[in-house]
Amino acid sequence: MGNSGSQVSSYVAADYYPAPYGGWVGDWADSYARARELVESMTLAEKTNITSGTGIYMGMNLVILVIHVASNELSSRLCLGDAANGVRLADFVTVFPAGITTGATWDKDLMYSRAVAMGKEFRGKGVNIYLGPSVGPLGRKPKGGRNWEGFGADPVLQATGASLTIKGVQEQGVIATIKHFIGNKQEMYRMYNPFQTGYSANIDDRTLHELYLWPFAEGVNNSACSQNSMLINGILKDELGFQGFVMSDWLAHMSGVGSALAGLDMNMPGDTQVPLFGYSYWMYDLTRSVLNGSVPVDRLNDMATRIVAAWYRFGQDDGFPEPNFSTTTRDREGDLYAAAWPFSPRGVVNEFVDVQEDHYLVARQVAQDAITLLKNDGPLLPLSTDRPIKVFGTGAAENSDGPNACSDRNCNKGTLGQGWGSGTVDYPYLDSPIDALRKNAKDVTFYDTDKFPGVPTPGADDVAIVFITSDSGENTYTVEGNHGDRDGSGLYAWHDGDALVKKAAETYANVIVVAQTVGPLVLERWIDMPSVKSVLFAHLPGQEAGESLTNVLFGKVSPSGHLPYSITKQESDYPSSITDLVTGSGVQDDYVEGLYIDYRYLNKAGIKPRYAFGHGLTYTNFSLTKPAITKVAKLSALPPTRPAKGNILDYSGPVPGESEALPPAGFNKIFRYIYSWLQPDEAKNAVKDRQTKTYDAYPRGYSTEQKPGPRSGGDEGGNPALWDVAYKISVTVTNSGAKHSGKEVVQAYVQFPDNIPYDTPITQLRDFAKTRELGPNESQVVELQLTRKDISVWDVEVQDWIIPNVDGRFKVWIGEASDRFSIVCYTDQLNCEANVEHPL
Ligand SMILES: *[C@@H]1O[C@H](CO)[C@@H](O)[C@H](O)[C@H]1NC(C)=O
Ligand SMILES: *[C@@H]1O[C@H](CO)[C@@H](O)[C@H](O)[C@H]1NC(C)=O
Ligand SMILES: *[C@@H]1O[C@H](CO)[C@@H](O)[C@H](O)[C@H]1NC(C)=O
Ligand SMILES: *[C@@H]1O[C@H](CO)[C@@H](O)[C@H](O)[C@H]1NC(C)=O
Ligand SMILES: *[C@@H]1O[C@H](CO)[C@@H](O)[C@H](O)[C@H]1NC(C)=O
Ligand SMILES: *[C@@H]1O[C@H](CO)[C@@H](O)[C@H](O)[C@H]1NC(C)=O
Repeated sequence: MGNSGSQVSSYVAADYYPAPYGGWVGDWADSYARARELVESMTLAEKTNITSGTGIYMGMNLVILVIHVASNELSSRLCLGDAANGVRLADFVTVFPAGITTGATWDKDLMYSRAVAMGKEFRGKGVNIYLGPSVGPLGRKPKGGRNWEGFGADPVLQATGASLTIKGVQEQGVIATIKHFIGNKQEMYRMYNPFQTGYSANIDDRTLHELYLWPFAEGVNNSACSQNSMLINGILKDELGFQGFVMSDWLAHMSGVGSALAGLDMNMPGDTQVPLFGYSYWMYDLTRSVLNGSVPVDRLNDMATRIVAAWYRFGQDDGFPEPNFSTTTRDREGDLYAAAWPFSPRGVVNEFVDVQEDHYLVARQVAQDAITLLKNDGPLLPLSTDRPIKVFGTGAAENSDGPNACSDRNCNKGTLGQGWGSGTVDYPYLDSPIDALRKNAKDVTFYDTDKFPGVPTPGADDVAIVFITSDSGENTYTVEGNHGDRDGSGLYAWHDGDALVKKAAETYANVIVVAQTVGPLVLERWIDMPSVKSVLFAHLPGQEAGESLTNVLFGKVSPSGHLPYSITKQESDYPSSITDLVTGSGVQDDYVEGLYIDYRYLNKAGIKPRYAFGHGLTYTNFSLTKPAITKVAKLSALPPTRPAKGNILDYSGPVPGESEALPPAGFNKIFRYIYSWLQPDEAKNAVKDRQTKTYDAYPRGYSTEQKPGPRSGGDEGGNPALWDVAYKISVTVTNSGAKHSGKEVVQAYVQFPDNIPYDTPITQLRDFAKTRELGPNESQVVELQLTRKDISVWDVEVQDWIIPNVDGRFKVWIGEASDRFSIVCYTDQLNCEANVEHPL
């Protein structure tokens, strides 16, 4: 005990074999039984065929799998599609606000409604598997390129966003993919290929459990990874009882036998790390590995069954639409297999199915309710529509070449609604701020430039609105010197936006700054200037960037977003393990800061941020009264013994005969397409190898004997007792202002008892709730809860979650930001107090 995340000396990747069979969780029993039967009827090559894509850009969509069973003529495709915020590379779809924007709403209902709408669009376009939500990167590195795809720099905010997204999407019959498992914290040097070695994310066990695994535990249903047996077999499939299938990220597949044994179930998009040659570590080679005895038959059966079980589980065998759009052309007809160019057969590839319905409404609501008012000096906001408005900054207007002019949004021109890379969606239209401003205000002058122009002498009534941006994305592209991560710009506004704000603030007496940004910015160059009256973060609003903003500016609604990360005064307020990006091949990235990222670090180090995690102002005031805490469950330090695994199906069987590996007579190979068949002599040799050779490359710790599972497991997400509600807290929220309606976010942070043998962050977010829109004097009672897990720490020696002092005084701080608490409740005496000094 007494283990601290920050006391780490060396790292080893432990082993864990064999891959645990799927199918032992009660809810999945029926889907598994049907899947097992179907897989039983497949040939060897049919089984390996469904564990892998057929190559990048092959097929009408990203990747198409075929479940073809001769005996019952069942044939279906499994289409997989990005992005986390909508259907990628498609027409007639909605560009929903990014994950970070959704996190900034702190609104569970909206997180869910956005997911329902997205799930409908994926389904309508025929996409079986939604490649989202993203909870990794989690926001450890403020400059990390893809933080914006997730919900914020806190495991609970991420877990809530992800689990509600999974629920909403899966209720539409679409399989969700929580990603990226795990330790994917920056873009540069993330890939292994012949040109570079990826970095190694070295995370100690406690930090893994209490930060980075946390959202996966609440969202477990699907994931991506490659070949770490401890992570996939041990932690994901046994400890978290994951019943879905584990998929490699695109071009992250690195071995054949090794990854199969380590628990990988699907390889995407099928190719080796260098695509487009028609080579694969699986498909024909997995068929060979089973025939030659190196990959056990039960492993392949488990892989195939996991995939088919998920397909049954979400009813995809029953009327799921076929994919009906192409990711490579918008023409009606085109290559059926783009990667087989110029030899591909052609056909209808786009049916132009419009799946948008009225989803712009939920998209706009999310964008609007995410807008975070950071600074608000004086009565400028809400703004009168009569005032003369001078607008500065290219972020106010759509890219003049069109919002989709740059592929995968790999430029920062005009309104920034998304970052760049594979996590983006093509705009059907972009409602830009300038359009909405002109529509709503009487006198608008727009200077479409990021360099402060010559302007007439300002009138006393003039208001300047300055738009600044900060972009990031996937390492596939370098944009204005930023290699995915914000390594070029750092945390300053792009296009010299800080100078633009400064100049505007020197010229006008009333300045409002609007930031469209992927993450935190350093605002110090101008934030204290007296004419900078108000600062709004719009985050990444998606297609509904205009009216969502003017609704807030002109006071149709009050701002209600809160920061999903901290904003520091300088980047170096964090330790170098957080601020430094890995800048070389094969570098070890040691997570030496342990549990101390974002506000957890700042609080420990006693550093006051400019704006704290959870901060967000509004036009009215709220009071929190009548707090009450009740104890729900009687607790012991350790959770009750886990339930044993339920009924486990038998996946074993004889190695099939070589005929099951052969293509049908007269089979015509499509150029570059990856097939699961072997040539007759290859199949013969594989069988001979099994009889004459022994495979001598089994990994350390390899075994074929199924295990009962670790003590911390027991169901999906771990021991089900971890989710037992331990305490409930209620508080009455009242709009105490006189004029404006508004929504309040109530946040609950746990402080562990003093004198426990574990070093824990001073306060940690554990639950939150947002009220409905409350008029002046209106109240709403808000309920929050703490589970057993919320008051536990991960003990690396016991290998379980432990409540460090069951009868001790846990303090639950309640407030509207991580630095603004108005109430504290105590678990030992079950009482609450108001106006207690902040713990920091
Ligand atoms: C594998 O899938 C492809 C389509 O992606 C199909 O043409 C082929 O017949 C399948 N092969 C087997 C062995 O099922
Ligand atoms: C994951 O799937 C299981 C089974 O379908 C379901 O009960 C659970 O609610 C899902 N989890 C989330 C977080 O949606
Ligand atoms: C079986 O085939 C796989 C894939 O080609 C290969 O890596 C492995 O060494 C082979 N095993 C034997 C015993 O030949
Ligand atoms: C395309 O999608 C529509 C609507 O979901 C569906 O009705 C249609 O069958 C799909 N087209 C094809 C070719 O599957
Ligand atoms: C909110 O309360 C503060 C402090 O009591 C007060 O100064 C401010 O005017 C109030 N704002 C509104 C909009 O009522
Ligand atoms: C709110 O309540 C106060 C005190 O009861 C009262 O004076 C005021 O008129 C009320 N305001 C509104 C808008 O109802």
